[in-house]
Amino acid sequence: MNVAVIGNGGREHALARKCMKSSHAESVHVIPGNTGMLMDRALKIYPQWDGSFGQLGEYVRKQKIELIIVGNEAYLERGITDYFENVEGVRIFGPKREGAVLEFSKDFAKIFMKEYDIPTADFITFTDAEEACRHIESTAGPYVIKQDALALGKGVLVTSDRSEALQFMKDSFEVTQKVVLEEFLEGREFSLLAFVNGDYHNCMIPARDYKRAHDGDEGLNTGGMGSYAPVEYVYDEDLKEVERQIIRPTVEGLIDRNIEFCGILYFGLMKTSNGIKVIEYNTRFGDPEAEVLLESMESDLIEAVTATFEKRVYPLKWKEGVTVGVCLASKGYPRNYEKGCEVSIPKDLNCYSMAVEKNGSSYLTNGGRVLFVVKTARDKKEAKTRCYEDVATVHSDNLYFRKDIGL
Ligand code: AMP
Ligand code: GLY
Repeated sequence: MNVAVIGNGGREHALARKCMKSSHAESVHVIPGNTGMLMDRALKIYPQWDGSFGQLGEYVRKQKIELIIVGNEAYLERGITDYFENVEGVRIFGPKREGAVLEFSKDFAKIFMKEYDIPTADFITFTDAEEACRHIESTAGPYVIKQDALALGKGVLVTSDRSEALQFMKDSFEVTQKVVLEEFLEGREFSLLAFVNGDYHNCMIPARDYKRAHDGDEGLNTGGMGSYAPVEYVYDEDLKEVERQIIRPTVEGLIDRNIEFCGILYFGLMKTSNGIKVIEYNTRFGDPEAEVLLESMESDLIEAVTATFEKRVYPLKWKEGVTVGVCLASKGYPRNYEKGCEVSIPKDLNCYSMAVEKNGSSYLTNGGRVLFVVKTARDKKEAKTRCYEDVATVHSDNLYFRKDIGL
């Protein structure tokens, strides 16, 4: 079949490359994609896409695309699945707007978890900046502040500094009408992603994301600076607890509210001394978790997706060992950074283009997170060492990366 992946980052590159490995794929398109992805010669991109569903529909028809996998959450929020649901001959993998709300409204997600007794941090939602600031003045930190909107991982601040919290709270009301203030939780984080369709779910192995910009989890929150899977501190009994206390009540809660959900449910979790709690839901693959998980996955992605549509049992198979991935980002990211800087990437490097631009036979940077290098080896230590050896073969004066991914 002909497949299209929607989005333009490393996650979409990983989804597309994984689809290309499937015996079920005739052609694979990334829409809009980025030109760095053309390091995979057989991939097709559609950078001319104007972002409208109408133009996308025409392309889908012309290219005889039968399966659309939505990578990026922004399109889910805009209702891409609602749009394509009734287009004959096309299956779209990703929830409709009503399901994507679990991700794009932090307030909705918190109320939902409370209603179905799903463990999560306590919270208060504010609709008034002054009231929110008064609350911060009268309580001790650390403060966890979340904007009620999609923000590419940058709409959250965790800080013990009251004046920083107050400033962020004020700034947040400039971009959203609701802001959630959460109880601060302590523990180790991991991400668990599952293929979900109604009451059907098929879990992947746990992955770890490194959200902060700098080593030792210092610096600002980013979209994710590195990842590895599986995660050694998540045991079988933890997965059973997540299944019982979190995944099952979540899918049952969606059914109870008559919310259809077919796609990926991403559980951002924290192992606390009080049990495992939900930090966030996403309604699509994580980026950079996807790059690492799809690299580790031995099973055929198109088969896993088809099994999900058909609610068929499909045991996922994984490579032996551990996969580690490191993101090379533009200096200054997640704040201001330059674009159009040269980067040299060896020909056979196992990497994904997050925002690489092809410029004749060379490459330029074209975004914040630029390149993602991955390596699988028999254990984490070896995967980490070999991944960083590969990272060292990339040359650019304008990129930085964390040196502690997989520690
Ligand atoms: P989120 O976008 O909700 O996943 O938040 C981004 C990051 O902020 C998470 O990965 C955590 O590291 C941190 N964080 C979010 N919520 C909490 C919380 N309630 N307590 C402590 N840290 C949190
Ligand atoms: N890596 C976190 C996310 O995709 O939201």
